[in-house]
Amino acid sequence: MLTDTKALLLDGLKPIEPDALLQLIAKAQADDRQGKIDAGVGVYKTSEGVTPVMKAVKIAEQRLHEEQTSKSYLGMRGDKLYAELLKPILFGADPGDNVIGLQTPGGCGALTLAFKLVEAARPSARVLVGTPTWSNHLPLIQGADLEIIEYCYYDKAETRLCWDDMVAALKTAREGDVALLHGCCHNPTGANLTANQWREVAAILVDRAITPVVDIAYQGLGDGLDEDAEGLRIIMDACPEVIVAQSCDKNFGVYRDRVGCLFVKAASADAAELVMKHVQQIAREMWSMPPDHGAALVRIVLSDDELTAMWRAELDEMRGRIASLRQRIAASDERLAYIGEQKGMFSILPITPVMVDQLRDEYAIYVAGNGRFNVCGMSDDQVDSFTGAIKAVMDG
Ligand code: LMR
Repeated sequence: MLTDTKALLLDGLKPIEPDALLQLIAKAQADDRQGKIDAGVGVYKTSEGVTPVMKAVKIAEQRLHEEQTSKSYLGMRGDKLYAELLKPILFGADPGDNVIGLQTPGGCGALTLAFKLVEAARPSARVLVGTPTWSNHLPLIQGADLEIIEYCYYDKAETRLCWDDMVAALKTAREGDVALLHGCCHNPTGANLTANQWREVAAILVDRAITPVVDIAYQGLGDGLDEDAEGLRIIMDACPEVIVAQSCDKNFGVYRDRVGCLFVKAASADAAELVMKHVQQIAREMWSMPPDHGAALVRIVLSDDELTAMWRAELDEMRGRIASLRQRIAASDERLAYIGEQKGMFSILPITPVMVDQLRDEYAIYVAGNGRFNVCGMSDDQVDSFTGAIKAVMDG
């Protein structure tokens, strides 16, 4: 029997703010106003405003259903062929036996492993993060008890990169620090480094002995699969150690199946094997072995030339739609012209949090609190009302 003097365990929990993006999804879903636009969360929508299962993935799903004879364990690395098949897509040529991949539950699982690996290797390492960044990056780094050093990556008011700040931050990093970099289609800004800037970053990383953690979750949705991997490949060529958190959730449209991979480039094949043993142990303590379904679908698509061609064509179509929406939004008002120069699913609107609330309350338009919006979060016939509402709130 409990008495007044005995504290309940869960009573000790302090109130916390739920993740803002997940809250936004829930709020948008609960809103039943006609013509609502949910441009908050990053999921692709067709011109009709739906998020479909890609055709190649659907066929792979049927094949999996027919061909799978067992659901017994695959092992701690999950689907090894899946990771191997992703290598040429990410790295172009075979990166060699000092690069090893391990299947993870989404890009978030890969990032969790990446930062916990840094913690295991060097708990004093600090993580340099350009802001603004994806809203879950900082909690993931804090979850690994690593110190964060923030620098300005993008100036929202000026709608441009803070390139000088980025260079200065990297140049003043301590030897052994870690730099978190967005491989392509920067989330939340859509503002990316040029190839020359990637080269400059790579040279500083090598010079300062900083280890890059490259988060690449939108490959193929910017300029193309190879084009979007250019920065990552420059980093892979230059740096002796690289950690890559990859996601197929967006470019295969398998969001809820959570399909990712952690790749580590180490100094040698033996060093990479040792790293993987540590990574496996970390994963064992969290999810033990990754869930199979989504990675199996990607493996089926990438093992079959016809399905791969079908997937690439669908991805091209998605990218084309994102690019054309960008141009349409950019052309609607000169204050939004910069959106036409950016890449990927997101851009940040030059609006205040009050205007974000106004968009939601008065126009049933959902964008993230920092003004980030999903460029393809609306159907074709919603674009004019979207841009009209943005202009109205900007004009006050
Ligand atoms: C997003 O940035 O909208 C997505 O990556 C969803 C998420 O998990 O935050």
